[in-house]
Amino acid sequence: MIITIDGPSGVGKSTVTKALAARLGFEYLDTGATYRAVALAALRRGAALDDAAAVEAALAGLRVELLPGRVLLNGEDVSAGIRAPAVSQGASKVAVMAAVRRFLVGVQRAAASGRNMVCEGRDQGTVVFPDAACKFFLVADARVRAERRAAELLAKGTTASVEDVLADQLERDRRDAERDLAPMVPAADAVVVDTTHLTTDQVIATLEHAVRSCPTDRTS
Ligand code: DC
Repeated sequence: MIITIDGPSGVGKSTVTKALAARLGFEYLDTGATYRAVALAALRRGAALDDAAAVEAALAGLRVELLPGRVLLNGEDVSAGIRAPAVSQGASKVAVMAAVRRFLVGVQRAAASGRNMVCEGRDQGTVVFPDAACKFFLVADARVRAERRAAELLAKGTTASVEDVLADQLERDRRDAERDLAPMVPAADAVVVDTTHLTTDQVIATLEHAVRSCPTDRTS
């Protein structure tokens, strides 16, 4: 059974996805990590991330593997390296490219095949798993998202102003929502949850409640 959670950056998808998966005894799939891994591979080759041919060349022979909480690039654990700010922006740039999306949709479907999984990203309910049993799209006020993200960074020892985080998020969100291929939009059958005034625990409880009443006979 597949459950999808899509939505913009900083809305809390990762935390909610992991917690929901744990409650249900499911695995989880962080598909953003796959776009980040491709961006990192392209950056390492010195490819300009707006050059589709150069980025496509970086895909040749590339192996992206998703393990619980980790992503491997040709066997190398790049879980930390893919979180760098340049990779965040780069991921959203390579994500507009058809060859990249085709490649990664294959990686993501293969990783989820035959498993019980909560899959998070931007296009999980619309493109990658259109027959998912249960779909969610999380939204929240942009400033609240930026404040949460800045607090998260601070907890990890990195200081970033809310204004800087907000500007970075808005740029990525615009690119993710306005691209032609698999733009970030809620699936027609997704439950849209506004998390602006909810605690993380309330969001998790809302989703868990909805999942428990999802039809289970839709397979993907
Ligand atoms: O969720 P994230 O911030 O790790 O994602 C990084 C970028 O990857 C995001 O800006 C857009 C892209 N992405 C995508 O296009 N489709 C997905 N399913 C997941 C991420």
